[in-house]
Amino acid sequence: MDTLSTAAQTSLGASSLEQVIELERRYVVSTYRRLPVLFVRGEGCELVDEQGRRYLDFVAGIAVCALGHAHPAVTAAIAAQAATLVHVSNLYHSIPQAQLAAELVRRSGLERAFFCNSGTEANEAAIKLARKHAYRKGEPQRTTIITMAGAFHGRTFGALAATPNPKYQEGFAPLPGGFKTVPFGDLAQARAAIDGQTAAVLVEPVQGESGIHPADPAYLGALRELCHQRGALLIFDEVQCGLGRIGTLFAFQHYGVVPDAVTLAKGLANGLPIGALVVGKAVEESLQPGDHGTTFGGNPVACAAALAHLAVSARDDVPANATRVGAILRGELERLAAAYPAVLGEVRGLGLMLGVQVKEPHTARAIVEAALEERVVVNDAGGNTLRFVPPLILTGDQAREGVARLERAVARL
Ligand SMILES: Cc1ncc(COP(=O)(O)O)c(C=O)c1O
Repeated sequence: MDTLSTAAQTSLGASSLEQVIELERRYVVSTYRRLPVLFVRGEGCELVDEQGRRYLDFVAGIAVCALGHAHPAVTAAIAAQAATLVHVSNLYHSIPQAQLAAELVRRSGLERAFFCNSGTEANEAAIKLARKHAYRKGEPQRTTIITMAGAFHGRTFGALAATPNPKYQEGFAPLPGGFKTVPFGDLAQARAAIDGQTAAVLVEPVQGESGIHPADPAYLGALRELCHQRGALLIFDEVQCGLGRIGTLFAFQHYGVVPDAVTLAKGLANGLPIGALVVGKAVEESLQPGDHGTTFGGNPVACAAALAHLAVSARDDVPANATRVGAILRGELERLAAAYPAVLGEVRGLGLMLGVQVKEPHTARAIVEAALEERVVVNDAGGNTLRFVPPLILTGDQAREGVARLERAVARL
């Protein structure tokens, strides 16, 4: 203990919101603009702050805690694995990782999985897969990745280059080359762009960060056909919309369009860091030993949590609950938007991935803050959208109660 600095000793005792804010202000790199609340516990769809106040959680750690907080099956799986083996690296075989790969393949109909630790890393793996695939089949000129306006794929350099938004890219030049942007949903422009230089088209079936914009099924179907005809891969980023959120375990199953590869992260391990690239037949051999890797990827504890999550999701048909309660939440949000037409606009989304347009951009953040005071946790995305990505176990009553609280927040402004 006596080797600890005074500050570190103080930090061990920090328990009030003010103390934690002060420690963060002094010691944490200030990349986040956090809301003034200190959550210390979670139970199902509720969060509890340090004073014991309970909040309905419509954010779920940004579309992460699909089974809510402290789900007993996930907690037990984490505890059991943590007491057995926490980490071995990918130098060795691993039971939870092999089992999770088999489960994802069985549930997706795809062929193999690669594991990493986050969404951005899953997309890095996808980008590397696309380029190596072209290279291996003797088409090294196919290097371009076509991405969509409004897309968000992550903050590491490859994924950032695939995220055509100055808000994220500014000041980080030079970014990796070989990325080309087309308007989301515009088939003619995609047709003009996909050519003999194209390695892959990377698309979110439902754009999340841009403010919840679902793709049209016919558009994704046509992209599938175009990629097929022109020798490019079609890769879906399901980091946010996947794993039950829009009513099917994989978002592509809702759309009935099978990509060559799909990236996952957020909800997979219900809160532990994990990412995955799941690949289909055409590309299952494209990455070979030594082509890619990560120390922590497919960590036993994260994989055990993911296996528990997938088992509960299947047992309780959690994706069906997302559809059912999503319809209730949507109805409530539409009623709210109609009651405040000067403030709120269009309601968009699928299942429990919903957004409400906010007419004045600055109002979105004000509503989020007022909602917190009314004990409902919501979030803003894309600058002008309230985003609702709650746990997928949300009940109809919780959906109604959450919107009633939100209504009090909107009414106050
Ligand atoms: C669609 C999508 N892709 C990728 C990412 C990046 O994931 P991570 O923050 O885990 O790197 C996100 C995160 O919001 C996302 O929504």
